Amino acid sequence: MSNNGNSLLNYLESTPMDLRVSNLYKSFPDKEVLKGLDLHVGPSETHVILGKSGVGKSLLLKCICGLEPYNSGSVFLNGEQVLSDKDLAKYKIGFVFQSSALFNSMSVSDNVGIYLREHRLVKDEDQYRSLVSGALELVGLSGVEEQFPSELSGGMKRRVATARVLVMSPDLILFDEPTTGLDPMMTKTIGELIVTLKETINTTQVVVTHDIEFGKYIADRISIISEGKIIDVGDPGNLENSCNEVVKSFISKKFDEREGKYEERI
Ligand SMILES: Nc1ncnc2c1ncn2[C@@H]1O[C@H](COP(=O)(O)OP(=O)(O)OP(=O)(O)O)[C@@H](O)[C@H]1O
Ligand SMILES: [Mg+2]
Repeated sequence: MSNNGNSLLNYLESTPMDLRVSNLYKSFPDKEVLKGLDLHVGPSETHVILGKSGVGKSLLLKCICGLEPYNSGSVFLNGEQVLSDKDLAKYKIGFVFQSSALFNSMSVSDNVGIYLREHRLVKDEDQYRSLVSGALELVGLSGVEEQFPSELSGGMKRRVATARVLVMSPDLILFDEPTTGLDPMMTKTIGELIVTLKETINTTQVVVTHDIEFGKYIADRISIISEGKIIDVGDPGNLENSCNEVVKSFISKKFDEREGKYEERI
Protein backbone atom coordinates (compact mmCIF):
# COMPACT_ATOMS: atom_id res chain seq x y z
CA MET A 1 0.00 0.00 0.00
CA SER A 2 1.34 3.43 -0.84
CA ASN A 3 1.19 5.88 2.07
CA ASN A 4 3.00 8.67 0.32
CA GLY A 5 0.83 11.70 0.08
CA ASN A 6 -2.19 10.21 1.81
CA SER A 7 -3.65 13.23 3.56
CA LEU A 8 -5.02 11.20 6.42
CA LEU A 9 -1.76 9.41 7.23
CA ASN A 10 0.01 12.78 7.31
CA TYR A 11 -2.67 14.14 9.67
CA LEU A 12 -2.93 11.22 12.10
CA GLU A 13 -1.37 11.56 15.51
CA SER A 14 -1.90 8.87 18.06
CA THR A 15 -0.50 8.23 21.52
CA PRO A 16 -0.24 4.46 21.65
CA MET A 17 -2.06 3.08 24.63
CA ASP A 18 -1.18 0.41 27.15
CA LEU A 19 -4.21 -1.77 27.89
CA ARG A 20 -4.56 -4.17 30.78
CA VAL A 21 -7.61 -6.24 31.66
CA SER A 22 -7.47 -7.95 35.02
CA ASN A 23 -9.64 -10.74 36.41
CA LEU A 24 -12.70 -9.66 34.39
CA TYR A 25 -16.04 -11.33 35.11
CA LYS A 26 -19.15 -10.73 33.02
CA SER A 27 -22.37 -12.69 33.24
CA PHE A 28 -25.96 -12.48 32.05
CA PRO A 29 -28.91 -13.89 34.00
CA ASP A 30 -28.71 -17.14 32.05
CA LYS A 31 -24.93 -17.52 31.67
CA GLU A 32 -21.49 -16.62 32.88
CA VAL A 33 -19.42 -15.54 29.86
CA LEU A 34 -16.13 -14.00 31.04
CA LYS A 35 -14.70 -15.80 34.05
CA GLY A 36 -11.62 -14.04 35.37
CA LEU A 37 -10.11 -12.95 32.07
CA ASP A 38 -6.63 -11.36 32.02
CA LEU A 39 -5.14 -9.58 29.01
CA HIS A 40 -2.22 -7.24 28.46
CA VAL A 41 -1.65 -5.30 25.24
CA GLY A 42 1.40 -3.07 25.22
CA PRO A 43 1.74 0.33 23.50
CA SER A 44 1.85 -0.01 19.69
CA GLU A 45 1.13 -3.72 19.87
CA THR A 46 -1.25 -5.43 17.45
CA HIS A 47 -2.87 -8.10 19.56
CA VAL A 48 -5.13 -10.68 17.94
CA ILE A 49 -7.80 -12.57 19.87
CA LEU A 50 -8.99 -15.88 18.51
CA GLY A 51 -11.79 -18.00 19.88
CA LYS A 52 -14.87 -19.92 18.88
CA SER A 53 -18.25 -18.30 18.31
CA GLY A 54 -20.13 -17.23 21.43
CA VAL A 55 -17.11 -17.38 23.72
CA GLY A 56 -17.30 -13.66 24.57
CA LYS A 57 -14.90 -11.92 22.16
CA SER A 58 -17.26 -9.09 21.20
CA LEU A 59 -18.31 -8.77 24.82
CA LEU A 60 -14.70 -8.35 25.91
CA LEU A 61 -14.17 -5.49 23.43
CA LYS A 62 -17.40 -3.84 24.62
CA CYS A 63 -16.31 -4.11 28.26
CA ILE A 64 -12.94 -2.53 27.38
CA CYS A 65 -14.50 0.55 25.76
CA GLY A 66 -17.36 0.99 28.22
CA LEU A 67 -20.24 -0.21 26.05
CA GLU A 68 -21.01 -3.08 28.46
CA PRO A 69 -20.70 -2.98 32.24
CA TYR A 70 -18.88 -5.89 33.86
CA ASN A 71 -19.57 -7.64 37.14
CA SER A 72 -16.08 -7.44 38.58
CA GLY A 73 -12.44 -7.07 37.62
CA SER A 74 -10.61 -4.07 36.20
CA VAL A 75 -9.60 -2.36 32.99
CA PHE A 76 -6.48 -0.19 33.06
CA LEU A 77 -5.64 2.32 30.32
CA ASN A 78 -2.06 3.55 30.48
CA GLY A 79 -1.89 2.14 34.00
CA GLU A 80 -4.95 4.00 35.29
CA GLN A 81 -7.99 2.01 36.31
CA VAL A 82 -11.15 2.90 34.41
CA LEU A 83 -13.77 3.72 37.04
CA SER A 84 -16.14 5.97 35.10
CA ASP A 85 -17.03 7.21 31.63
CA LYS A 86 -14.92 10.27 32.42
CA ASP A 87 -11.82 8.08 32.64
CA LEU A 88 -12.64 6.63 29.23
CA ALA A 89 -13.33 10.02 27.68
CA LYS A 90 -9.69 11.03 28.19
CA TYR A 91 -8.69 8.65 25.42
CA LYS A 92 -9.50 8.17 21.75
CA ILE A 93 -10.73 4.61 21.45
CA GLY A 94 -12.04 3.53 18.06
CA PHE A 95 -14.34 0.53 17.75
CA VAL A 96 -14.97 -1.12 14.39
CA PHE A 97 -18.13 -3.08 15.13
CA GLN A 98 -18.86 -6.57 13.83
CA SER A 99 -22.09 -5.15 12.42
CA SER A 100 -20.46 -1.98 10.96
CA ALA A 101 -23.18 0.17 12.65
CA LEU A 102 -23.30 2.90 10.00
CA PHE A 103 -25.94 5.61 9.95
CA ASN A 104 -28.17 4.61 7.03
CA SER A 105 -29.61 8.09 6.46
CA MET A 106 -26.16 9.60 6.03
CA SER A 107 -23.83 9.42 3.02
CA VAL A 108 -20.58 7.49 3.25
CA SER A 109 -18.71 10.79 3.47
CA ASP A 110 -20.85 12.00 6.39
CA ASN A 111 -20.49 8.65 8.15
CA VAL A 112 -16.71 8.76 7.88
CA GLY A 113 -16.41 12.44 8.80
CA ILE A 114 -18.86 12.54 11.72
CA TYR A 115 -16.13 12.64 14.37
CA LEU A 116 -14.29 15.46 12.59
CA ARG A 117 -17.49 17.51 12.43
CA GLU A 118 -18.66 16.80 15.97
CA HIS A 119 -15.30 17.71 17.44
CA ARG A 120 -14.76 20.63 15.04
CA LEU A 121 -11.36 19.28 14.07
CA VAL A 122 -11.07 20.60 10.54
CA LYS A 123 -10.37 24.14 9.45
CA ASP A 124 -12.41 24.07 6.24
CA GLU A 125 -14.40 21.94 3.80
CA ASP A 126 -11.32 21.22 1.66
CA GLN A 127 -9.48 19.70 4.59
CA TYR A 128 -12.60 17.76 5.59
CA ARG A 129 -13.02 16.28 2.11
CA SER A 130 -9.36 15.49 1.82
CA LEU A 131 -9.24 13.63 5.18
CA VAL A 132 -12.42 11.68 4.43
CA SER A 133 -11.10 10.72 0.98
CA GLY A 134 -7.74 9.79 2.52
CA ALA A 135 -9.47 7.48 5.01
CA LEU A 136 -11.51 5.85 2.25
CA GLU A 137 -8.41 5.43 0.10
CA LEU A 138 -6.66 3.64 2.99
CA VAL A 139 -9.44 1.06 3.18
CA GLY A 140 -9.48 0.63 -0.61
CA LEU A 141 -12.77 2.44 -1.18
CA SER A 142 -12.05 5.59 -3.14
CA GLY A 143 -14.94 7.26 -4.92
CA VAL A 144 -17.94 6.16 -2.84
CA GLU A 145 -18.21 9.37 -0.79
CA GLU A 146 -21.68 10.28 -2.06
CA GLN A 147 -23.20 6.79 -1.83
CA PHE A 148 -25.41 5.61 1.03
CA PRO A 149 -24.84 2.53 3.21
CA SER A 150 -27.83 0.75 1.62
CA GLU A 151 -25.97 0.83 -1.72
CA LEU A 152 -22.90 -0.95 -0.31
CA SER A 153 -22.07 -4.62 0.20
CA GLY A 154 -21.42 -5.92 3.72
CA GLY A 155 -17.69 -5.87 3.11
CA MET A 156 -17.78 -2.27 1.87
CA LYS A 157 -19.77 -1.22 4.94
CA ARG A 158 -17.12 -2.82 7.13
CA ARG A 159 -14.45 -0.79 5.39
CA VAL A 160 -16.43 2.45 5.73
CA ALA A 161 -16.75 1.66 9.47
CA THR A 162 -12.97 1.24 9.58
CA ALA A 163 -12.43 4.56 7.77
CA ARG A 164 -14.78 6.26 10.25
CA VAL A 165 -12.58 5.11 13.12
CA LEU A 166 -9.31 6.09 11.41
CA VAL A 167 -10.16 9.79 11.20
CA MET A 168 -10.29 9.88 15.03
CA SER A 169 -6.49 9.40 15.26
CA PRO A 170 -7.29 6.66 17.75
CA ASP A 171 -4.86 5.76 20.55
CA LEU A 172 -6.46 2.30 20.62
CA ILE A 173 -8.48 0.58 17.90
CA LEU A 174 -10.71 -2.37 18.69
CA PHE A 175 -11.55 -4.36 15.54
CA ASP A 176 -14.35 -6.90 15.84
CA GLU A 177 -14.05 -9.37 12.94
CA PRO A 178 -12.79 -6.78 10.42
CA THR A 179 -12.62 -9.24 7.51
CA THR A 180 -15.82 -11.28 7.79
CA GLY A 181 -17.54 -11.21 4.43
CA LEU A 182 -14.53 -9.77 2.60
CA ASP A 183 -12.93 -11.51 -0.38
CA PRO A 184 -9.23 -12.45 -0.15
CA MET A 185 -8.10 -9.25 -1.91
CA MET A 186 -9.99 -7.03 0.52
CA THR A 187 -8.86 -9.13 3.47
CA LYS A 188 -5.32 -8.38 2.29
CA THR A 189 -6.13 -4.64 2.03
CA ILE A 190 -7.40 -4.58 5.62
CA GLY A 191 -4.40 -6.64 6.78
CA GLU A 192 -2.01 -4.21 5.09
CA LEU A 193 -3.89 -1.28 6.58
CA ILE A 194 -3.50 -2.68 10.10
CA VAL A 195 0.22 -3.21 9.51
CA THR A 196 0.54 0.30 8.00
CA LEU A 197 -1.15 1.82 11.06
CA LYS A 198 1.29 -0.02 13.28
CA GLU A 199 4.28 1.16 11.24
CA THR A 200 3.22 4.76 10.68
CA ILE A 201 1.31 5.95 13.74
CA ASN A 202 2.00 3.05 16.12
CA THR A 203 -1.61 2.75 17.22
CA THR A 204 -2.32 -0.01 19.72
CA GLN A 205 -4.73 -2.45 18.09
CA VAL A 206 -6.82 -5.32 19.40
CA VAL A 207 -8.25 -7.46 16.62
CA VAL A 208 -10.85 -10.15 17.15
CA THR A 209 -10.94 -12.50 14.18
CA HIS A 210 -11.84 -16.04 13.21
CA ASP A 211 -9.29 -15.98 10.38
CA ILE A 212 -6.17 -17.61 11.74
CA GLU A 213 -3.98 -16.84 8.70
CA PHE A 214 -5.07 -13.18 8.74
CA GLY A 215 -4.42 -13.09 12.49
CA LYS A 216 -0.92 -14.48 12.08
CA TYR A 217 -0.15 -11.94 9.34
CA ILE A 218 -1.05 -8.87 11.38
CA ALA A 219 -0.31 -9.95 14.97
CA ASP A 220 2.57 -9.14 17.24
CA ARG A 221 0.96 -11.54 19.70
CA ILE A 222 -2.10 -13.79 19.64
CA SER A 223 -4.35 -14.73 22.58
CA ILE A 224 -6.70 -17.68 22.55
CA ILE A 225 -9.93 -17.28 24.52
CA SER A 226 -11.83 -20.30 25.75
CA GLU A 227 -14.25 -20.93 28.62
CA GLY A 228 -14.23 -17.26 29.64
CA LYS A 229 -10.47 -16.87 29.95
CA ILE A 230 -7.37 -16.28 27.87
CA ILE A 231 -5.85 -19.74 27.91
CA ASP A 232 -2.67 -19.00 25.96
CA VAL A 233 -0.73 -16.03 24.58
CA GLY A 234 2.06 -16.29 22.07
CA ASP A 235 3.88 -14.96 19.05
CA PRO A 236 2.19 -15.82 15.77
CA GLY A 237 4.87 -18.41 14.98
CA ASN A 238 4.73 -20.04 18.40
CA LEU A 239 1.12 -21.03 18.87
CA GLU A 240 1.45 -24.24 16.87
CA ASN A 241 4.03 -25.32 19.45
CA SER A 242 1.71 -24.63 22.39
CA CYS A 243 1.56 -27.39 24.99
CA ASN A 244 -2.10 -26.58 25.57
CA GLU A 245 -4.23 -29.23 23.81
CA VAL A 246 -7.17 -26.83 23.35
CA VAL A 247 -4.90 -24.27 21.66
CA LYS A 248 -3.34 -26.93 19.41
CA SER A 249 -6.71 -28.22 18.34
CA PHE A 250 -8.03 -24.69 17.78
CA ILE A 251 -5.09 -23.56 15.67
CA SER A 252 -5.49 -26.57 13.40
CA LYS A 253 -9.25 -26.05 12.92
CA LYS A 254 -10.71 -24.76 9.70
CA PHE A 255 -13.31 -21.99 9.77
CA ASP A 256 -16.46 -22.80 7.81
CA GLU A 257 -17.49 -19.45 6.24
CA ARG A 258 -20.94 -20.76 5.29
CA GLU A 259 -21.72 -22.09 8.76
CA GLY A 260 -20.01 -19.11 10.39
CA LYS A 261 -18.12 -21.31 12.87
CA TYR A 262 -15.14 -23.61 13.26
CA GLU A 263 -15.51 -27.14 11.92
CA GLU A 264 -16.21 -28.50 15.37
CA ARG A 265 -16.40 -27.25 18.93
CA ILE A 266 -13.26 -26.94 20.96
N1 LIG B 1 -26.75 -8.34 25.83
C1 LIG B 1 -26.69 -9.66 26.01
N2 LIG B 1 -27.63 -10.32 26.72
C2 LIG B 1 -27.56 -11.65 26.96
N3 LIG B 1 -26.55 -12.44 26.49
C3 LIG B 1 -25.60 -11.84 25.75
C4 LIG B 1 -25.61 -10.43 25.48
N4 LIG B 1 -24.51 -10.13 24.75
C5 LIG B 1 -23.85 -11.29 24.57
N5 LIG B 1 -24.50 -12.30 25.18
C6 LIG B 1 -24.06 -13.70 25.20
O1 LIG B 1 -22.72 -13.73 25.60
C7 LIG B 1 -22.02 -14.72 24.86
C8 LIG B 1 -20.83 -14.11 24.19
O2 LIG B 1 -21.27 -13.24 23.17
P1 LIG B 1 -20.28 -12.54 22.16
O3 LIG B 1 -21.11 -11.77 21.21
O4 LIG B 1 -19.24 -11.81 22.92
O5 LIG B 1 -19.60 -13.80 21.44
P2 LIG B 1 -18.45 -13.83 20.34
O6 LIG B 1 -17.31 -14.58 20.90
O7 LIG B 1 -18.19 -12.44 19.88
O8 LIG B 1 -19.12 -14.70 19.18
P3 LIG B 1 -19.02 -14.53 17.57
O9 LIG B 1 -17.69 -15.14 17.18
O10 LIG B 1 -20.17 -15.35 17.06
O11 LIG B 1 -19.14 -13.10 17.23
C9 LIG B 1 -23.01 -15.34 23.89
O12 LIG B 1 -23.48 -16.55 24.42
C10 LIG B 1 -24.11 -14.33 23.82
O13 LIG B 1 -25.34 -14.95 23.60
MG1 LIG C 1 -18.52 -11.45 18.13
